[in-house]
Amino acid sequence: MLATKSSSSDGGGMPTVAVTGAGGFIGRNVVACLLERDWRVKAMVRRLETSTGLPKSDRLEVVQADMRDAESLRRAVQGANAVVHLAAAMADERDSDEINVGGARRLVAACRATGCARIINISTQSAKIPRQGVYARTKSAADAVFHSSGLAVTTLLPSIVYGDETSGVFGTVLGFVKKLPIVPVLGDGRWISAPVYVGDVAGAIHSCLEHDNTIGQRYDLGGPEQISFDEFIDRIAAARGICRRKLHIPFGLSLLGARVATTLLPSPPITVSNVLGSNQNTNIDIGPARRDFGFQPIDFSSGLSRVLGPVGIDENVLATESIVIAQYLIGQTPSPALQDRYAAACRARLREDADVELQFARRHPRFWPFLDAATGILRPHSTVRQRVFLMTALLEATPEYAGFFLKPPEKPLRLMARVAWQGTRGVARIAVGIPLLFWARRNA
Ligand SMILES: NC(=O)c1ccc[n+]([C@@H]2O[C@H](COP(=O)([O-])OP(=O)(O)OC[C@H]3O[C@@H](n4cnc5c(N)ncnc54)[C@H](OP(=O)(O)O)[C@@H]3O)[C@@H](O)[C@H]2O)c1
Repeated sequence: MLATKSSSSDGGGMPTVAVTGAGGFIGRNVVACLLERDWRVKAMVRRLETSTGLPKSDRLEVVQADMRDAESLRRAVQGANAVVHLAAAMADERDSDEINVGGARRLVAACRATGCARIINISTQSAKIPRQGVYARTKSAADAVFHSSGLAVTTLLPSIVYGDETSGVFGTVLGFVKKLPIVPVLGDGRWISAPVYVGDVAGAIHSCLEHDNTIGQRYDLGGPEQISFDEFIDRIAAARGICRRKLHIPFGLSLLGARVATTLLPSPPITVSNVLGSNQNTNIDIGPARRDFGFQPIDFSSGLSRVLGPVGIDENVLATESIVIAQYLIGQTPSPALQDRYAAACRARLREDADVELQFARRHPRFWPFLDAATGILRPHSTVRQRVFLMTALLEATPEYAGFFLKPPEKPLRLMARVAWQGTRGVARIAVGIPLLFWARRNA
């Protein structure tokens, strides 16, 4: 193996890894992960003040190194068995070429000069998109530099990486969800990503360092679920116990806005690369990473609760809700087992917890039938309606209640009377439910 613990360059039994971009979001997590796994780490930071978020350890050395400065890179890499490369210009900066592509060349030269043969290069899914902005173009050019260097290189191409409340695309979306009633989306929101937890990315980097079969390979890194950007937003909002509308800004308009912002502002809120990167799908296949180094990412719901804490749906609220809905549907209190299944299903589908209708229905349980009837017409996707469907499905699938839905054939006269009664009752519920719905929304 090229960079195993037995091949330590300091002769002390511990291998040393130099990490570029160590003060950044992923970098901090990678440094912590490598320290936990007994590596010595040289944390390379452009500015020493960005090292304050790094863990304290006597196996950690912070070194100043700029991707534009060959000599600083050579000094930093000296003595390392391997390099993890994370530093990048992310926002279409004027010196993106200089940092991302020129930086890759300088880093390769530094590795050659110091005898460090192993590089884990962190690229991005954007490097695979056909229509590239500055970020995607310079990241894919850097990948080519590394893979043609003759060094032992592994490249990882993560999808959206999430892991704390303020970093990356996740942090931006979370910020919008917290502050804005309507979340702007660049494009149609159908772009597919596989959000991956930062701890899993750090673990993958460590695994690659330990697995020589990954040398020369490129691996997609993503979470186990592939979801649209709209769903990404919905699930972040739901994990905060809120529901947010989205405003889709057409692709052409988003691109124009990004061009203008990039021209006029020193640090624009959106870049052309943001727009291009979030409107072109890539085929994200984590099969090779699973196969070659046992990559096992956690699912998005588990990751969300790690970052944001568990969603606080009160057990008693769900139990009461299940009783009210079952009473409405079949006139019976559901068994405790069915109440539990209802609560489990609600927790598994974390979409909605605080929309106005649901809150109102919880406060005034006798209005469930009216709200259900009105939302059936005006807001068919509302959570009140979803909850009724959910309970219907659970009742139908539970043998002891299935009889309510599988009634024996009725005599025609009786059937007509029942249909007439149900129709009249339905119309009456709608007539009461619609003003109630408006009242609930106005007084929310
Ligand atoms: N976050 C994601 O969702 C994601 C997804 C796919 C791929 N990636 C890749 O993962 C890597 C790390 O991303 P991140 O999310 O951790 O971004 P980040 O927090 O912005 O970190 C980037 C780091 O690069 C450093 N850097 C920039 N220019 C430099 C230069 N000239 N010399 C030395 N260091 C420089 C920055 O230092 P300063 O603090 O001094 O600016 C910062 O520490 C990047 O290569 C990115 O392309 C990230």
